[in-house]
Amino acid sequence: MLASISRVYEHYKTPLRLRHHMLRVAGVAQIICENWRGSLDTKSVITAMLVHDLSKIVSIPDSSLIRESSKEDDKPSRYWLNLKREYIERYGSEEHMAVFNMANEMGLSQRASHLALNIFLENATLPRTKDSELKVCVYSDLRVSPSSVTTLDERIKDVEKRYAVKYPRETVRILHKIEDEIRAHTRSDPSSITEKEVAPKIKKLEGFRISISSKALSNRFEVSK
Ligand SMILES: [Fe+2]
Repeated sequence: MLASISRVYEHYKTPLRLRHHMLRVAGVAQIICENWRGSLDTKSVITAMLVHDLSKIVSIPDSSLIRESSKEDDKPSRYWLNLKREYIERYGSEEHMAVFNMANEMGLSQRASHLALNIFLENATLPRTKDSELKVCVYSDLRVSPSSVTTLDERIKDVEKRYAVKYPRETVRILHKIEDEIRAHTRSDPSSITEKEVAPKIKKLEGFRISISSKALSNRFEVSK
């Protein structure tokens, strides 16, 4: 069956903050696909971007989950902790395995699942991959901070601060190389994509329909408040 991504988010009770992030990332990816010289599997790229952080909740520390989710969703702390527990019981506590399990449950196409799963393997696979669609996915995710489209360098700084990690210099070099490669394949400079350009696309992307197993949506979440 086909279901709008909004319906999928409703079903999975995806926190608003994560919905907005995935919609923005999909917006960046859509602009790149529209400007690509040659053909790309735009549908799989957008589908992957719209679901790539669907399982994120399993890896967010309880205190951050409550603090950040409560800013946008008016629900008590207990609700978020119960939702996280429900996710872990269903899909596992490891984020990447959880995305894999959710993609399987939804019956996503092989290509969309592959892209959604492999953006997490960026460091290991990117230097060797010739997969342009995967590069567009990785790059688009790295152009969106929690609340807006930003530059690659700003996003790298944001991730380093948020997760107290340091990107290896080699990884930063590879990410900039990907931006250069995308620039060489597109009619407009990807680094010039801004929040202003992406924002109008979000409303339409909320109605983007993905092919999903009807069984997935019948397996209801009951989260006590
Ligand atoms: Fe993301």
